[in-house]
This record gives sequence, structure tokens and C-alpha cells, in this order.
Amino acid sequence: MKKIVVAIDGPAGAGKSTISKLVAQKLGIEYIDTGAMYRAVTLKIIRNKIDVSDDVTLEKMLNSTEITLENGKVYLDGEDVSTEIRQLYVSGRVSEIAAKQVVRDRLVELQRKMALSKNVIMDGRDIGTVVLKDANYKIYLTASVEERAARRYKEFCQQNSSVTFQEICNDIKERDRIDMNRSYNPLVKAEDAILIDTTGKSIDEVVDEILLIIKNN
Ligand code: CDP
Ligand code: CDP
Repeated sequence: MKKIVVAIDGPAGAGKSTISKLVAQKLGIEYIDTGAMYRAVTLKIIRNKIDVSDDVTLEKMLNSTEITLENGKVYLDGEDVSTEIRQLYVSGRVSEIAAKQVVRDRLVELQRKMALSKNVIMDGRDIGTVVLKDANYKIYLTASVEERAARRYKEFCQQNSSVTFQEICNDIKERDRIDMNRSYNPLVKAEDAILIDTTGKSIDEVVDEILLIIKNN
């Protein structure tokens, strides 16, 4: 059977993780959420008040950190941090930390190991351009910033969070700005990725579109 390696990239709230999970279920392949890994590292840095300008300390911390993804949950040194890493105080620091080469090099190495000899769908910002450059399917998902912020706001409302729409919109815009403009492996559409603008599209529509691309190629 042909190997299936799917790379999904795009800005915050484009639907990457929701859609990747569903495509993974339909195809019976593994889903790897790389954003969760950057968020877990960020949480550890915040908790331990680590000075991120000090690469030596950062590298030491990364070498003694265990991040695992299991059954849709994210574990940081054995602790389930799946809910904590989604909080806005983590989102507010993650892009600054993800811009650091020492952090990216370590996480990319881990991500490649996770995907080794498996059929996978992996989502993030640099999957088609760096992590899984040889992926046989590459998709770049996007949507208008207003729609992406509205989707995220709805999620926070469902959790009875007091976060405002404006705070979410600012977080998304600021992260997109940092992610797209960092010097080391920025968020950019891979030349060979298929662009899907999900503005106004339902989750099922996008899932079907991706399944069709995989079936036909
Ligand atoms: O779910 P959302 O789109 O809000 O973000 P995420 O996928 O959880 O990623 C959080 C942050 O991690 C992004 O804003 C990027 O700064 C960083 N990230 C990255 O730099 N490279 C990746 N492959 C994945 C995430
Ligand atoms: O991973 P990423 O940040 O790209 O986005 P996500 O966390 O998968 O999606 C953000 C929210 O948008 C989720 O609540 C999805 O259910 C929702 N969504 C949607 O309403 N319509 C889509 N076409 C895709 C996602």
C-alpha cells in the first residue's frame, strides 16, 4: 500500500487540527499536533521563569524535557497539560519562543522521529517546508482573520471563558505576524502545497476536499 504522509500548514484558527484529526480518523492514520509541542515547551518556560535570551539554559531545559502526544492528549514530563496549553497566557508567549532556532531544531528532530515509518498527518507552520519536506500530500489551510478569530471565540465561549473577541483577534494577528516574519523557518506556503481557503466552508466540506485530493493523487 502507498505510504500516506500529509503535511498541513497555515495560520491560527484555519482549522488545521480539527480537520487533521478527522482526516486521520477516516484514513486510520496517526495525527501529530506540532503546535501542542511548542505550547508545552512554552508552558514549561513560563512556569520555570526561564530566560529565553539564554540559549544554553534553553538547550539544557529542552534536553531534559519529555513531550508526548497520546490519544489526543499532550503530556509534559508526564503531566497532562492538554487544557493548560490552550490558555491565552500560553498563546501570548508561544510565537516568541517558537521563533528561537534552538527550540525549533529540537522539536523538529522529535517530530521527525514521531513520524518515522508511519502513515501520518501532521499539522503546524513548517511541516511542508521543513519537517516533512518529502510529504506526498501538502495542504495550506487558511481563512479570513475575522472568521478565524470568530471560530476561536466560539470555543472560548463554550468553555465559559471571560476572554473577549478583541483579545482573541489580537492574539491571532500578533502570532501570525511573528510566525510569518521570523527569520528561521517562517510560516509560508510550500511551493508544492495545495491552498484551501476555508472561509465560509464547513468542517465536513474541507475534510471531503482533502480526502478527495488524497484519493486522486
Ligand atoms: O492552534 P493554533 O493555530 O492557535 O496554534 P498551534 O498550532 O497550537 O501553534 C501555536 C504556535 O506554535 C504557533 O502560533 C507558532 O508560533 C508555533 N508553531 C510553530 O512555530 N511551528 C509549528 N510547526 C507549530 C506551531
Ligand atoms: O488548528 P487551527 O488553529 O488551525 O484551527 P482549529 O483549532 O482546528 O479550529 C479552530 C476552530 O474553528 C475549531 O473550533 C473548529 O471547530 C472551527 N472550524 C470551523 O468552524 N470551520 C472550519 N472549516 C474549520 C474549523
